[in-house]
Amino acid sequence: MSETLQTIYQRRAVRKYKPMPVNHELIMQVIDAGRMAPSAMNKQPWSFYVLTEKTDIQAFSKQIARAGVREIIRSGVKKVVKTFLDVLRAPIGFGHISEKDFVFYGAPVVIFITAPKDNEWASLDIGMCCGNMMLAAKSLGLDSCPVGFGKFVDQTKSYPSLRIPPEERVMIALILGYGDDEPEMHERRKGNVFFISPGT
Ligand SMILES: Cc1cc2nc3c(=O)[nH]c(=O)nc-3n(C[C@H](O)[C@H](O)[C@H](O)COP(=O)(O)O)c2cc1C
Repeated sequence: MSETLQTIYQRRAVRKYKPMPVNHELIMQVIDAGRMAPSAMNKQPWSFYVLTEKTDIQAFSKQIARAGVREIIRSGVKKVVKTFLDVLRAPIGFGHISEKDFVFYGAPVVIFITAPKDNEWASLDIGMCCGNMMLAAKSLGLDSCPVGFGKFVDQTKSYPSLRIPPEERVMIALILGYGDDEPEMHERRKGNVFFISPGT
């Protein structure tokens, strides 16, 4: 298997981290890999807002958890369940979740990735960017987890401290660090590939 394929197969969403910082060079290499992603009309719509201070990360985590719950309560119980399932998307053992940091799982680096609100391709572009970053992280000995819940950061009282311009929105948060867990691979759904040969 090629090194690239090995990295793709070995990457997992990791939800427990060692309390070890990640050096600046490594963070920048991961971000540079994100910048290499393709983007619609080459707009490169991403910006990266990076937190590395433990106290900041913990404060945002608490505020985002509260904002997320508020949002969930506002939109009704049915949506609560849906949002949680959509976001978490998988059987996540609660043993893996650090009690102190339910949103960012004790990771030493949190990167909020933003895009202009008026970019119709933003979700796809940022998804590709984030995908590159997670694979780059894995290839550099780091682990990661995309945190969709991070988008609720705009409803926190500390949001202005990020100085994100009003024309931009947080699409996702990506956490990075040295993983302290080796989650099992989730089986991938099969039977969803259709080779079409019209006329045969
Ligand atoms: C758009 C997106 C949002 C996600 N949001 C969260 C999240 O808020 N919290 C979390 O723990 N995991 C989150 N995940 C991680 C998924 O749960 C994880 O990728 C999925 O269970 C598959 O596991 P794997 O990445 O280890 O293959 C998110 C993944 C994606 C792609």
